[in-house]
Amino acid sequence: MCGIVGYIGYREAYPIVIKGLKRLEYRGYDSAGVMLYDGKALNVSKTKGKVSNLEEKSASENTINGSIGMGHTRWATHGVPNDVNSHPHLSNSGELAIIHNGIIENYEPLKKELINRGYVFHSDTDTEVLINLIEDVQKKDKLKLGKAVQVALNQVVGAYAICVFDTKKPNEIVAARLGSPLAIGVGEGEFFIASDASPFIEYTSNAIYLEDEEMAIVRLYKPIKIRKIKDDTLVDPYVQELQMNLEQIEKGGYEHFMLKEIYEQPNVIKDTYRGRLLANSGIIQMAGIEDNIEKFLNADRILIIACGTSWHAGLVAEYIIEEFARIPVEVEYASEFRYRNPIITNKDVVIAISQSGETADTLAAIKLSKEKGAFVFGVCNVVGSSISRETHAGAYTHAGPEIGVASTKAFTTQITVLTMMALRLAKAKGTISNSDFHRYLLELEVIPEKVMEALQTNDISKEIAAIYKDAPNCLYLGRGYNFPVALEGALKLKEISYIHAEGYPAAEMKHGPIALIDEKMPVVVIAPKQNHYDKVVSNIQEIKSRSGKIIAIVTKGDVQVKDLADHVIEIPDSSDALSPLLTTIPLQLLSYHIAVMRGCNVDQPRNLAKSVTVE
Ligand code: AGP
Ligand code: GLU
Repeated sequence: MCGIVGYIGYREAYPIVIKGLKRLEYRGYDSAGVMLYDGKALNVSKTKGKVSNLEEKSASENTINGSIGMGHTRWATHGVPNDVNSHPHLSNSGELAIIHNGIIENYEPLKKELINRGYVFHSDTDTEVLINLIEDVQKKDKLKLGKAVQVALNQVVGAYAICVFDTKKPNEIVAARLGSPLAIGVGEGEFFIASDASPFIEYTSNAIYLEDEEMAIVRLYKPIKIRKIKDDTLVDPYVQELQMNLEQIEKGGYEHFMLKEIYEQPNVIKDTYRGRLLANSGIIQMAGIEDNIEKFLNADRILIIACGTSWHAGLVAEYIIEEFARIPVEVEYASEFRYRNPIITNKDVVIAISQSGETADTLAAIKLSKEKGAFVFGVCNVVGSSISRETHAGAYTHAGPEIGVASTKAFTTQITVLTMMALRLAKAKGTISNSDFHRYLLELEVIPEKVMEALQTNDISKEIAAIYKDAPNCLYLGRGYNFPVALEGALKLKEISYIHAEGYPAAEMKHGPIALIDEKMPVVVIAPKQNHYDKVVSNIQEIKSRSGKIIAIVTKGDVQVKDLADHVIEIPDSSDALSPLLTTIPLQLLSYHIAVMRGCNVDQPRNLAKSVTVE
């Protein structure tokens, strides 16, 4: 979720805020806005598009004076990217302003209540609800801004990093965070608030990083006050001296965006099921599905169209939907589907999967499907993207911007959405028992913790990478749910390290690829303790007897494969259906480290684009 910059001090705020927003552009965004307080009035300029568009607009609107200011780059989650939905948002009175990164999950009931109390809304965002909730609390209980923010946030469910300003208290900015990062730069007679230190590192290297559920009252010429939002206890501010340079800060201290995004997966999987997976209540609720569930239940089949990694997520979905919901699924490369005059009827439901929401082949396949009468459902990561607007309905992954060309967190959040869809449809069809349904919900809810555990395979993955970084070829094998993961692992390796890699169903080895096996061929075998385990062990034995080098992804504690393989990488146990969310992690790390060791441009591999908007 994107960029926040606040300034309060003795300098002109505008240039600092604008430059700070530019420093945060690497995080990807769709809109930008700025608020300045010039001592008399609160001036706002905001626009869909780039910070440069904002500069033109704010210069023409002459809203750039004042030494207190807040700026925002938006990554839309609620409400398409447009001027009105851009931040800052003002309260009805016009006295309060907010900028927000994150998602207010319970914004709808809060909005209904505020409308009943006479509030009006101009945007479709969840953020505008929050600023009016703060105003409502302030008015009702006659509270100062800090207290009003605290009381309001205790009514909110979701993730946020916010800055709030009140014209009635013009010498302070209130900041708060839960689930989205927020740093405070402590200068001499000035303060900076930002999503990371990049907007203020040139002014001060003294920073306070707010922890989750903390809020800060940042007042001119006063020491910062930090409190726990829940119980108001004071927190001693810990000011640290930053050693990181600008580039390191942009990548959150990671060497590459790809590695940062690999490590973001526990959080973004949680963001993706937030508000949709209510495990304890045994509920999955996804608006796009609820409103169209009959179309899915009456469908003759589900066609999944996508490209690249998204196509691999579609293959995982084929296994999950057919196992749970018993609806026939066919997965198609969009680039093939669109040209082969496919048979599509109005009894078909098409699911289009796309991280960018701009892939030309997928977009064309959607249009073809709609022309032939199919209902088209999108799974996208970019709100307001072409594909999200072209489909009849959809469900967003909340992975946040994926900067690295190699898709990682998009893959696992796509699988998260598709798994919730499959379970919801199975529940509606009665093809899954209540106990199994509840069991899967509870397991899905703790997947982020298991992904975090799987990330601990980083060191062993790096050791193995050093051994095989110069291999000319590599084979990836998997069965069942992990066959698509084998394809995805091979794609990761070839697209960032330029080593030729191929994914295959493990059972297919004997139909050809086994001829490739010799002592120079590393073979990655995905062999978790699951349905086909014994068969995969036989495949491993076949490879071993031909001197292949075996890198096995196994369930923690496995001994049988450990005796056979040259290397094992252990991941937590899980059900078959949820195992792709875990088995993919070491494969991402392995390909990342091999690419780094080969000196490749990991974030921008040669010949590749992040979004293939051409045919
Ligand atoms: C995967 O690592 C690649 N970046 C690429 O295959 C990508 O998945 C494909 O181009 C589809 O992109 P989309 O999900 O944005 O439609
Ligand atoms: N949920 C808010 C919106 O859609 C904030 C999105 C963001 O993090 O930029 O406007």
